[in-house]
Amino acid sequence: MAGSKFAYVKKFELPDTLLPSTFMVLRLDGHSFHRFSDQHGFVKPNDLRALQLMDHAAKSLMEEYKDIGLAFGESDEYSFLLRKSTALYNRRQAKIVSTLTSLFTSCFVFHWPKYFPDVPLQYPPSFDGRIVLYPSQREVRDYFAWRQADTHINNLYNTAFWALVQQGGKTTTEAHAILRGTVSKDKHEILFSRFEINYDKIDPRYRKGSVFVRVETTPEEPADELSTNTDTASARPVVSEESRRKEEKKKKKVATQIELLHCDIIRDEFWDKYAHLMRD
Ligand code: GTP
Ligand code: MG
Repeated sequence: MAGSKFAYVKKFELPDTLLPSTFMVLRLDGHSFHRFSDQHGFVKPNDLRALQLMDHAAKSLMEEYKDIGLAFGESDEYSFLLRKSTALYNRRQAKIVSTLTSLFTSCFVFHWPKYFPDVPLQYPPSFDGRIVLYPSQREVRDYFAWRQADTHINNLYNTAFWALVQQGGKTTTEAHAILRGTVSKDKHEILFSRFEINYDKIDPRYRKGSVFVRVETTPEEPADELSTNTDTASARPVVSEESRRKEEKKKKKVATQIELLHCDIIRDEFWDKYAHLMRD
């Protein structure tokens, strides 16, 4: 079909196909959530409602996009790992980033009242999104280790900081000054000796972040509903060709479910257990 004389402008749209056979990691991050969390009265250091809402939006994304096998979330960010061989939107970068970021954001807004029934949204939140490609399993593992190490560092700092302010009666300036130059062991010690808080006993949700893994579920044995006719001579069920084809198709589709964990994803144990996440 011939286009109008204006159609040439389409040629200015450049292809942005992502390299084939590489792992895609999509990371979304709340835009100016420092302000957003203040304006909506988020609990410090961790607001369970906000984290559960983030989890809900992330799970919705995984339900919609089966090529996402793993997701990791903390604070106002979420990372998603897509299969190396994904052909999602023909691997067009802008299409993937914009559509998935948009769906995540609308889920966040859509489900807001469920988690914040008494807090009306003051203004529409937004998230930025980016895709980073990784050539091998090593970088993918290190990427997720990097994000979880970040969760640990931030959460330990924030837990100590807000304990000093909320329970210790320090000003924020004083709390910053006390923590300046401290290492991990010192913060554990401050929490334990001053506030009887054993950091290792704090909810793993806050210490480890949220991990969604897609796992295959064992398909149930097909019920004997296929035997529509019975060959009385041999007393063996006769299965119609159509039913057989349907059953074959069903078998090829692997049923999966999405599990929420708050576990270590830095050590080998996780990657050994969920080795399928890196397969094609
Ligand atoms: P940009 O991402 O650069 O737009 O800035 P940002 O303000 O979103 O900061 P960043 O993404 O680096 O950090 C997220 C911020 O969200 C934190 O610094 C907190 O201020 C806020 N935040 C996230 N989760 C919580 C929470 O559970 N409780 C509270 N009180 N604040 C949170
Ligand atoms: Mg942010």
